[in-house]
Amino acid sequence: MSDENPPRKNAVTMEKLINLCKRRGLVFPTSDIYGGLGSTFDYGPLGVELKRNVKEAWWREMVQYRADVLGLDSAIFQHPKTWEASQHLQNFTDPLVDCKVCKHRFRADKISGGKCPDCGGELTEARNFNLMFKTFLGPVEDSAAVVYLRPETAQGIFANFQNMVDTQRVKLPFGVAQIGKSFRNEITTENFIFRTREFEQMEMEFFVKPDVTEEAKWYAYWVDFRFNWHIKYGLEPEHLRRREHASDELSHYSSGTTDLEFLYPFGWGELEGIAKRGSFDLDQHAKFSGKDLTYFDEDAKTRYRPWVIEPALGVDRAMLCFMLDAYDEDVVENEARIVLRFDPRLAPIKVAVYPLLRKGGQPEKAIAVREILQRHFMTAYDQAGSIGRRYRRQDEIGTPYGVTIDHQTMEDDTVTLRDRDSTAQERVAIGRLVEVIRDKIGWTR
Ligand code: GAP
Repeated sequence: MSDENPPRKNAVTMEKLINLCKRRGLVFPTSDIYGGLGSTFDYGPLGVELKRNVKEAWWREMVQYRADVLGLDSAIFQHPKTWEASQHLQNFTDPLVDCKVCKHRFRADKISGGKCPDCGGELTEARNFNLMFKTFLGPVEDSAAVVYLRPETAQGIFANFQNMVDTQRVKLPFGVAQIGKSFRNEITTENFIFRTREFEQMEMEFFVKPDVTEEAKWYAYWVDFRFNWHIKYGLEPEHLRRREHASDELSHYSSGTTDLEFLYPFGWGELEGIAKRGSFDLDQHAKFSGKDLTYFDEDAKTRYRPWVIEPALGVDRAMLCFMLDAYDEDVVENEARIVLRFDPRLAPIKVAVYPLLRKGGQPEKAIAVREILQRHFMTAYDQAGSIGRRYRRQDEIGTPYGVTIDHQTMEDDTVTLRDRDSTAQERVAIGRLVEVIRDKIGWTR
């Protein structure tokens, strides 16, 4: 985190967002009925849609729209040798200190002054604490059965490198992308879904020729590509910046890392990391597995282990940033409203359908329209309360479009289509609604 924190461009605070998330069913604390479970969260009906859309936006741009990236879904459990080879067993640690007075626990690298930040008490010597969760595979709980919950999805990709080369007719440069859960026994969790012990990652290992020029070219490419992705899906450009790691902050596998940092209400912090991993992982897995793990370069008629550029992003952290930047408060028809100005592609619900009146056949017609729309988009139906109140309810969860069935609908099969941000309305024939809404959402933009 940096000291220099310019003002953010909207009125959001973490408290306002957390309240909205709980009130509207985006994010609930896990095991709420038991008083919660240290920084673990569940996604409610709207949160799960937002999460699916964030992953869809990543997958489309990182896999579907490209010819050089393949998908993978590897297991959470990996052979225990994986973590020896990757050096997570030795190096994936945080320095831990305890306060001798209040017993609070801290990451030694996050405090200054050598005293307890909570009570000023004396601290213990720092000891290294491994962040991987351990469990046992099978019924016998002995050391031979120990397995770990993966702390990154990346190793499943390296362990499948040979499978990719042997089965997919790939040519360098090429990437392998995966989305999935990772687990870290973080010493300190903080700031809602920013840092949790169970989270989801979207990672891609991009294999290039082992050559510094080639590596530099693709490193710059992926830093820019990833920066632009965040802007494209709704982050304020002023809330995003690139920061190169100093040599003493680099992960054990990295020879260079750029963080994309976001301006959170609590200051600048990491959103995504793009790292140069060289051939570290393939070399290590070759050594520990005894397998070759090389690539045959047809043009140069030679074998080598490619180098790797890795963009790695947390799904939950990306959701947090998209929600923070979508949050807005304004006044419509003399009434204050909260509105989440999500990019329509990310919005949990794309369209809500309302009968203006609860009579004259309007509710039945509205339900028929909903049935058409919900085959194409996540669709809500609301007939409770004044039409203004119903619009506000959808604005608050970021629904970009509203379809209202009124007396004219009953005569000519047209509806009004309302835009969340401008609140402008246009008249559209029911037969054209799917096409018009699909164009406005614009997934293929
Ligand atoms: N494979 C490289 C790797 O895992 P990382 O910087 O440790 O790199 C990548 O993690 C991204 O995963 C981070 O930028 C962040 O978005 C997300 N992330 C990491 N730890 C997290 C945690 N405890 N809670 C939520 N997201 C986390």
